[in-house]
Amino acid sequence: MSYERTNIQQMTGYSSGEQPRQAQVIKLNTNENPYPASAAVAQALAGIRVEDLRRYPQPLANGFRQVAADYHQVEVDNIIATNGGDELIRLLITTFVDPGQTIAIAEPSYSLYPVLAAIQNCPVTRIDLQEDWQMAPDFAERLNASGARLAFIVNPHAPSGVLTPVARLREIAQSFDGVLVIDEAYVDFIDPELAYNAVPLIQTLNNVVILRTMSKGYSLAGLRFAYGIGARELVAPMLYKTRDSYNTDVISQVLATAALADREHAALGWQKVREERERVGQALCAMGFSCSPSQSNFLLARVPLHDSRYESPEILARECYQRLKDEGILVRYFDMPRLRDKLRITIGTAQENNQLLHHLESCLRPE
Ligand SMILES: Cc1ncc(COP(=O)(O)O)c(C=O)c1O
Repeated sequence: MSYERTNIQQMTGYSSGEQPRQAQVIKLNTNENPYPASAAVAQALAGIRVEDLRRYPQPLANGFRQVAADYHQVEVDNIIATNGGDELIRLLITTFVDPGQTIAIAEPSYSLYPVLAAIQNCPVTRIDLQEDWQMAPDFAERLNASGARLAFIVNPHAPSGVLTPVARLREIAQSFDGVLVIDEAYVDFIDPELAYNAVPLIQTLNNVVILRTMSKGYSLAGLRFAYGIGARELVAPMLYKTRDSYNTDVISQVLATAALADREHAALGWQKVREERERVGQALCAMGFSCSPSQSNFLLARVPLHDSRYESPEILARECYQRLKDEGILVRYFDMPRLRDKLRITIGTAQENNQLLHHLESCLRPE
């Protein structure tokens, strides 16, 4: 006899990208930042004493929330700090959706959403993105027709990197009858010339929550720290009712605060990633790959379509993934509709990217 709830018995857990132990692997599979966090973070880490761990952390991470509020020009009450973006997603689901109510997601997107929905025993409506990875004109109507209480969109989109403008997000949020989560895990890599900023939406729309993470833009994936920005009425129940009592720890609060305060350092890395994204994109294109226009720290590259040695582009994509892996280079291959002929490649350092391009070229070269 199993003691698990029936829906837990029936569900499949989240499958993370490979996290190899060997340091020499070139890791371009989970969209981590190729550059280290700022010296201010190293200094803050060195300043933490074992004695500081004797006591519980600030329950709401108020020091961090203040820095985040100042940065985004919102009130502290508009910010919730969480143990990674993943915890915020879980809180959004458990706070705003009853078991049995529908959650909607733009498809494809972050594969953790359906897993957390399954834990809450919620059906998921998947609304396919268009060919260009944008949301269809009737996206909001389809959200409403599904009866969704909560909907997730990723902007810039993962896994394509395509950016939806703020005006379109506003239209969708205004028309949607539930809570709209704009997952901005990769927002820091957007070209500054586009002047993208969705945060002002929360001032006039009380159904929008924006997810930000320190994992990507601030090189702190190992720390597990993220935050949500939303109307006070949305943030308060998560802060005061559904959050774990001490959901972020002493060390992560100190380091995340130091990192967010030193955005100048992080911004140097964002710029290098953009430059490499452009260079790698052009090199892939010259080899016959085609990439969607990415504003993120990864490229979704479709393999060249006409290679007579392979039965199908899907087989070629899988072969490229495997051959790169054999060479110690990890990229992400998704065995999912619309993605089987593509590789998602995180932008690494120039040296890592050169290795990637070199080995991809030899994958395509006739023997
Ligand atoms: C689209 C998206 N949202 C959220 C996250 C969660 O990030 P974290 O839990 O590291 O903050 C990720 C991580 O890969 C992601 O790709």
